[in-house]
Amino acid sequence: MSTTRQQGFFITFEGADGSGKSTQMRLFAARLRQAGHTVVETVEPGGTRIGGAIRAILLNPENHDLSPRAELLLYFAARAQNVDQLLLPALERGEIVLSDRWTDSTYAYQGHGRQLGTDVVVELDHVACRGHRPDLTIWVDIDLETGLERARARNAETGASAESRMDEQARDFYARVRQGYVELERLDPGRIRRVEGAGTPEEVAERVWAEWRRFEAAHV
Ligand code: TYD
Repeated sequence: MSTTRQQGFFITFEGADGSGKSTQMRLFAARLRQAGHTVVETVEPGGTRIGGAIRAILLNPENHDLSPRAELLLYFAARAQNVDQLLLPALERGEIVLSDRWTDSTYAYQGHGRQLGTDVVVELDHVACRGHRPDLTIWVDIDLETGLERARARNAETGASAESRMDEQARDFYARVRQGYVELERLDPGRIRRVEGAGTPEEVAERVWAEWRRFEAAHV
């Protein structure tokens, strides 16, 4: 099987918070392993020891004074470490690397959501990733309302509260994030495959698998 191939594949999962992409990545990884592939799973921000430390800074709600550009650079710092320490060695071993988020997240969240612009994201990607890009990206797309509802349910479970004013801000922000993904798909339709995120996890997993089979037929 492809475990002995010279060069592996790099596949990323993207989507808004609450899209279910992390669940889908787990299901996909299990199915690939069943099919005999060697799979490495990683996550952004995070994925390495250094990346984990950067993730703790980025996701700590006490760091509300983190400036948007500092935030942007930290996402890429974590990613640069991931490229050197995890991604490239695994690809050289011929393995399949799956990442829960990658530069498309920065494009959608910082470029569009935080309105830092997409040029700077593309530029920093060249520095951090040195031209290494995903071979296939699964964009798990859900409508804004479903995403917000799932995120609210998750907050309720974890005890976090959300004021309605925050909700309104979240709505505008996530609308811009989704626009970012729409734009990416338009710019790179061969790599970015939109998968409808509505339905049961099993139904969505079938759609993901169908995209992989299409990719596999064209590349293996
Ligand atoms: P995480 O807890 O991993 O959420 P999820 O399961 O939805 O991915 O937190 C990741 C958060 O970081 C998520 O809100 C998106 C954000 N993010 C960015 O804003 N830019 C980025 O480049 C990345 C990788 C993530």
